[in-house]
Amino acid sequence: MDARGGIGGSPTHDLRGLDLLEEINRLRKERNAVILAHYYQKPQIQDLADFVGDSLELSRKAAETDADVIAFCGVRFMAETAKILSPEKIVVLPDMDAGCSLEDSCPPAQFKAFREAHPDHIAISYINCSAEVKALSDIIVTSSSAEKILSKIPRDQKIIFGPDKHLGGYLARKLGRDMLLWPGVCIVHESFSETELLKLKAMNPGAPVAAHPECPPAIIDHADYVGSTSGILQYAKDMPGDTLIVATEPHIIHQMEKAVPEKTFVGAPGADGNCNCNVCPYMALNTLEKLYISLRDLQPRIEMDERLRVAAKKSLDRMLEMASDTVGQGDVGAR
Ligand code: 13P
Ligand code: SF4
Repeated sequence: MDARGGIGGSPTHDLRGLDLLEEINRLRKERNAVILAHYYQKPQIQDLADFVGDSLELSRKAAETDADVIAFCGVRFMAETAKILSPEKIVVLPDMDAGCSLEDSCPPAQFKAFREAHPDHIAISYINCSAEVKALSDIIVTSSSAEKILSKIPRDQKIIFGPDKHLGGYLARKLGRDMLLWPGVCIVHESFSETELLKLKAMNPGAPVAAHPECPPAIIDHADYVGSTSGILQYAKDMPGDTLIVATEPHIIHQMEKAVPEKTFVGAPGADGNCNCNVCPYMALNTLEKLYISLRDLQPRIEMDERLRVAAKKSLDRMLEMASDTVGQGDVGAR
């Protein structure tokens, strides 16, 4: 079953002379559309969105909105989640090529075979996976909800956790429970370098480090706070010092600078200290131009087979139920 629909890539359009912001605002009203954006989007997209949030908050918004159209400025698994939860709505993703390395690391057929080889395990999957993998899972988690949900699972229940081995490994260490981990990684968080981080710490003495749990253990081990994007943002507001080293995708710094302009935020560098590899290349595919076109043409649109949608919704609904008392900033938690 194919979860994807609509037009991939970015068609060529002559948009010269258009005031894109004005056009987007006009279309948003005409279409009764809501624009949802993840914290890793470009600042200009974050600033025009109706709501900016982490994966859990965006799922909740998608489930609750009474708009007719959801324009999802994020990556494909997020827009698919919106469609699964709100099937009657038109869900557009400005660039259908906005995927995710974690999703790519977990082909449904291989995941199915892995599950079948471990019939006494339940499958808890990070939301960064395809609709097919969601349909093969028992419960979905985000980085905001994972710890709370896992703490509700009896300790003698065996668990497969996928597709992020770093998030799974972090949770296993923190909660002291063994889980069978799928070997996927986020290419962005995987790129952070411990050597470069230590240089940055030396240049900013006393500055705490906030890291996303998609980071490898060598980075997490230096973190004063580990949590989801909304958790890291909250930590930036609450922390006592005036400088924070941020080990996650650097576009979130835009929200930090808006919320606490008197503080300084330093993005942790990728591999050699100079590369752009800490920027998510998939999130970066969305642009104002493509957002405008998606609202104008209502394409590219997420389409999904109804049987697949219903099957995937079960594990997402379990997450929303089990995390119902988790506020956005609740997260994997301070170390
Ligand atoms: P959260 O915003 O839920 O922390 O997820 C981070 C991420 O990598 C999304 O792709
Ligand atoms: Fe996927 Fe990593 Fe990009 Fe998030 S930051 S969308 S996990 S590749």
